[in-house]
Amino acid sequence: EKGGFEHFMIKEIFEQPKAIRDTLSCRVADDGKSVKFDELNWSPEDVNSIGKIMITACGTAYHAGLLAKYFIEKLARIPVEVDIASEYRYRDPLTDSKTLCIIISQSGETIDTLAALKEAKRRGARSLAITNVVGSSISREADQVVYTWAGPEIAVASTKAYTTQLVALLLLALYMGRLNGQLSAEKETEILQDLQKVPEQCQYIFDHADDVKQLAEKFKNKEDVFFIGRSMDYGLAMEGALKLKEISYIHAEAYAGGELKHGTLALIVDGVPVIALATQRDVEEKMISNIKEVKARNAQVVGVVQDDDTEVAKTVDYIIKIPKSDNFVMPVMTVIPLQLLAYYAAVVRGNDVDKPRNLAKSVTVE
Ligand code: M6R
Repeated sequence: EKGGFEHFMIKEIFEQPKAIRDTLSCRVADDGKSVKFDELNWSPEDVNSIGKIMITACGTAYHAGLLAKYFIEKLARIPVEVDIASEYRYRDPLTDSKTLCIIISQSGETIDTLAALKEAKRRGARSLAITNVVGSSISREADQVVYTWAGPEIAVASTKAYTTQLVALLLLALYMGRLNGQLSAEKETEILQDLQKVPEQCQYIFDHADDVKQLAEKFKNKEDVFFIGRSMDYGLAMEGALKLKEISYIHAEAYAGGELKHGTLALIVDGVPVIALATQRDVEEKMISNIKEVKARNAQVVGVVQDDDTEVAKTVDYIIKIPKSDNFVMPVMTVIPLQLLAYYAAVVRGNDVDKPRNLAKSVTVE
């Protein structure tokens, strides 16, 4: 059932091109140029009546929500708050009938996420679930559902669910931006066309998986790894750090590049690995300054960049290249080497990759 792979996790990592294609294809108009959501069928008024969006989720799904904030605020200009479900429930949130609550959950069964959805509904919010499991509790509770078509995800560490959540959320941002007039048809088509290239472009990353494996071997006895990034790469840094902790049991932290000086730099000493995500062109120069700050303390820096980068490569020790794409699309591919790094680190450390200690696939207790 692992289809020749050693673990479910690596099988699921390699299934991402198909999962992404399946999540995309039913939501692209026949001419390939615009987004459609038959399951939502919203009018401009449906979008214009949204005062703010509350995204609520746990773990990896929460990290997808962090990126969705960038997608929606930049493309549709609607304010977005992102909350961890277990925090949302207890903070007396400002949610009312003008709020659209977006709930993200692979399993559709996470108890805190389900409870947050109920709480948002109790306060009068409209609700939309992004989930991977048809007929799950969350899909039944929400007013509307957008399914990610990732197929069953068995490994505890979430991989293809996350990338398909990003795809669904980016499509949703494009859809809302077009409906409320914040996004031009040309920009929509541009991003959508880049998104449609992703399944094929993933092959490049898979072809270079051995480079990531070598890094995992190099870092296997390290006690701490830092992930840094700016803008959408910061959200991805959080996902990269979670993945590494969860299955390799190496302590990892994510920091926004600009925050390093405000404390974390004290931890950067000789030989500490820093994974520097620098795929976002608008903040590239700032990332290069951050990389120099950690290099000056003798960190071992892995730069993750778009494949035509020349500048970051000059400042780092190792480089991982990601096929070039639109800024909004980059995260969907950039996360894959981070998943591979966590996977190979767990394998070389002899861990139970698919069933990491103390964790369950779906958290149905509080
Ligand atoms: O099924 P859900 O998406 O609601 O699960 C949420 C988290 O428990 C989950 O993403 C968890 O963080 C993963 N194991 C991370 O890889």
